[in-house]
Formats: sequence, C-alpha cells, structure tokens
Amino acid sequence: MASQKLIVGNWKMNGLQDDARARISAVLDYAPKAPSSAKVVLCPPVILLNSAVSQTASSSVAIGAQDCHAEKSGAYTGNTSAEMLKDAGCRYVIVGHSERRQYHKESSEDVAAKAKAAHEQNLIAIICVGETDAERSAGTQEEIVLEQLQKSIPAGSTAENTVIAYEPVWAIGTGKTATVQDVADMHRFIRGHVSAMPILYGGSVKSSNAQEILHTENVDGVLVGGASLKADEFIGIISAS
Ligand code: PGA
Repeated sequence: MASQKLIVGNWKMNGLQDDARARISAVLDYAPKAPSSAKVVLCPPVILLNSAVSQTASSSVAIGAQDCHAEKSGAYTGNTSAEMLKDAGCRYVIVGHSERRQYHKESSEDVAAKAKAAHEQNLIAIICVGETDAERSAGTQEEIVLEQLQKSIPAGSTAENTVIAYEPVWAIGTGKTATVQDVADMHRFIRGHVSAMPILYGGSVKSSNAQEILHTENVDGVLVGGASLKADEFIGIISAS
C-alpha cells in the first residue's frame, strides 16, 4: 500500500560504538545504490542514538529508538521519554515489541500510551503485534492479533504517524520464518483493521527470504533483528525491496 518499502533494523541490545559506526558506514556507503523503493530506518540501543543521528544526518537513513516511556519526564529511573528521543533527532520509535511485552510485562494499554506519547512528539510509532507458538497451534492467532491491534493503537493514529509490525513470536530469532501464505493471510487480516497504515513483517527475515516476503501482498516492509547486525545481510535485504 505504501509507495516505499520500509526496511527497519532493530539492533536490540547489541552494538558498541565502534561496530555501530562501522555498520552504519556500510549502510551509508551502499545508500546511493539502494533501490528508490527502499526507506531505511536503523534502531540502535538508546546510548548510541546521538552518534547514529549525527552519522546519518546528511543521508536518507532515519534513526529510531526501540522503546519510549509514556510520560514526558519525571521520576522513572532508567527510562527515556519520547520527547528525549525527538530531541536527539529520532524520527521513529518501536513500541510493544514482544520482548518488551514478555520481559517488561508491557500490556497493550501500555503500548497505546507509549504510541500516543510518540505521536505527541511527531515521532512515527512502529507498533508490534504477534501471536506465540501456543496461540498459533490453538488456531487463535487472528483473535490475539486483533485484540492487540484494538488495544495498542491509540486514538489519533494515522497512516502517517503509525506503522504496524506483525512479528509472530515463534519466528523471532529462531530462524523459523512464517510461510509466505502465513504472512499473506495475517497481513490481509491486519489490513482489514488498519486500512492504510503500513504493515511490516518481522521474524527471521534475512537476505535469502527478503525478496519473497517484501513482494507479498500487504507487506509494506520488514522489521529485521539478527540480520540487521550483519552489514552484508542487511544490505541484501534493502536491495530486495
Ligand atoms: P529477528 O528479530 O529478525 O532476529 O527474528 C526480529 C525482531 O524481533 O524485530
């Protein structure tokens, strides 16, 4: 639906200053040769955001964060607000990643509050949804994803300020990619509920499967974890867009 494919690299808790710089340099070197159909977003750990923003300043590569707090400021030790991310030069923020939902017990209501905070700062919220292995085995994946969509997308969300990322939990970091049919079915289902918002697929995307995933109907891009840490792999994914 979107005219450009969004290729988002989610570095998670990986990267020290030197390798981050090298990885970004490799992407910047490739950028002039990248298909015009690709829009690249890198989401490094929060401590690397400032340097990533400076390094990509005169390029088309945008920087995003992996999470934000719902409040603007205050006594929330260890957290980062959407306003701080905006101030640092971020354009995107991932919210509701399954690792946040699982390890930080974030509910869909929490996710909606974070997305709302992002919107208030004119950041684009990448809202993640996806079922577990057990939920898919029970055949409840659509029910689960629908409930997450209904509760995680705040009022005021539009195709301009919100991106949906469908990431089946069982496919994240496991090497188990959903089949093209699984992706097509779920993306069609999600499309029916979010109309024009871009919908990304995430879960073991790599250069060898990016082409078919990116060209599946209703797939507007990919959210890439492990493969975004290897410059060659990530560039291979960009080139498949
Ligand atoms: P993966 O992670 O590509 O390593 O499976 C994707 C994600 O969690 O965003």
